[in-house]
Parts: sequence; structure tokens; C-alpha cells
Amino acid sequence: MWRFATLATILLLSLPSHADSTGLWNSNGRKPLSKPSEFLAAHNKIRATHNLTKLSWNRVLARYARRWANRRVDDCKNLEHSPNSPFGENLFWGLRDHWNASEVVEFWGDEVRNYDPVTNECLGSSVCGHYTQIVWNTTQCVGCAHALCNNNEGHLFVCSYDPPGNIYYQGPFGGRFSKCIVCPPPSIQTSSTLSENIRGPAGIAAVISPNNRDFISGTVGHPDNETPPKFNLNNE
Ligand SMILES: *[C@@H]1O[C@H](CO)[C@@H](O)[C@H](O)[C@H]1NC(C)=O
Ligand SMILES: *[C@@H]1O[C@H](CO)[C@@H](O)[C@H](O)[C@H]1NC(C)=O
Ligand SMILES: *[C@@H]1O[C@H](CO)[C@@H](O)[C@H](O)[C@H]1NC(C)=O
Repeated sequence: MWRFATLATILLLSLPSHADSTGLWNSNGRKPLSKPSEFLAAHNKIRATHNLTKLSWNRVLARYARRWANRRVDDCKNLEHSPNSPFGENLFWGLRDHWNASEVVEFWGDEVRNYDPVTNECLGSSVCGHYTQIVWNTTQCVGCAHALCNNNEGHLFVCSYDPPGNIYYQGPFGGRFSKCIVCPPPSIQTSSTLSENIRGPAGIAAVISPNNRDFISGTVGHPDNETPPKFNLNNE
């Protein structure tokens, strides 16, 4: 019996590097965290409320999210976005252990109440860009990671999306607007030309919990120049 247990332990300990890109393991490779199916189902449940096509899980995106999450485990709370990512990116940091993939994606989805589809704005000074990324109708693939932060500093969740949503001055269900959900930074707003070096997720929106700051969420916006999908849906 103990032999079997030992073998099982060895197998388990040898799995992480192999399974790293699936988002199943944290950065020290020991504890199983959220599953891809959990992230995906939570996204598609929200998309179904708008009759949108289902997202597929993409391993390249999952690996991208995993690499970024693993690089941030020492300062999760700063909620830094990956620089110049060609993908959409939703981030979430939560201190307490109850947070899991379903809860985080539902939390993002609850921003539906902050979004005004008529004007294409987040109401008041609220954030709604995580929700609009999830329901962006041209987004086809998602890949996410869930990492444990070092020094018991909670949980970090990263989801990457392709093609990216939150395109400046567009709405999740199509259309062009004078308002943006995640707006470009001033350098882009005042510039008449979008040059190569300011492509990528420049606009950033973040929500900080009002009370004890035990969770923070962030998303990004993109200029309208990189809509083709980076990945074939049948890639894996
Ligand atoms: C989704 O499709 C169903 C069945 O065709 C329809 O009844 C419903 O109104 C649609 N919902 C939205 C939000 O478009
Ligand atoms: C995620 O957390 C919620 C709320 O605590 C719980 O109902 C759900 O079962 C959890 N999901 C998984 C896969 O553990
Ligand atoms: C997105 O929504 C717009 C407006 O309804 C529609 O014209 C467009 O075809 C949709 N695109 C996709 C990929 O569903």
C-alpha cells in the first residue's frame, strides 16, 4: 500500500512541469488550483446570456497567462499587466482562500450592471471592462492561470483573450461609439496616428475593493489594429 502511495506521490510531483501550461498548478508546482474547464465554463455561461459563440480554451494563451502569473507572484497586489501583450487580459488578485476560477469570472461578469450598452460607457466611475472583454463578440479563445502568491499574499488570476476585446471606441456587440469602455492613455488620445510602438494594451481600468482592499481587478484596452485572431481555433 505504501509503495503505491509513494509511487503516486512521485508521479504527482513529476507532473507539474509537464502540466504547467494547463493552469492546473501553482508556481511551486505542488498544489492543484483551478482547472481550465472551470475557467472556460464560467466564461461561456456569461456569453450564453447574450447568445454569443462559446470561447475555446487555447493552450498558447494559457501558457502566456501562466508565465505572466508566475512572474508576478512576489507582488501580486500591484496587479501589473503584461507589457505589450497582443491579447486581451483580465487580472484579479484576492487575498482570501475562497477565491476560485468560477468566483473570479462571475465577479467580472457581475460588472454587467456597470455597463451602459447605449452609450458604451461604464456607469459613473465604475469598471465594466472585465465583463465586456468576456462578452466581446469577436473574441474566440481564452487561456487562464491561477497562481498562489508568495508570502501568503493570496491568489492571482490571469486570463488572456484572442482576438482581444475592449477595442477603443467599440462595443462588445459591435458598433462604434464616441465613448470607450477602457479608454486609450492620453498619449494615444491626443495622437492622430497610431504608430507601431504604441500598439498593445495601453489603456487600463482597475477596480479596488472599497473596504479592506482584499481584492483588486484590472483589465486592458486595445487600439483597433490587431483584430485578426492570433491562433487557429483547432490548434490543440
Ligand atoms: C437568445 O436566443 C433566444 C432563442 O433564440 C432568444 O429567445 C433570446 O431572446 C436571445 N437572447 C438574447 C440576449 O439575444
Ligand atoms: C468555487 O467557489 C464557490 C463559492 O465558494 C463554490 O460554490 C464552488 O463549488 C467552487 N468551485 C470549485 C470548482 O471548487
Ligand atoms: C458582433 O456584433 C455585431 C453587431 O450585432 C455584428 O454585426 C457582428 O456580426 C458580430 N460579430 C460576431 C463575430 O458575432
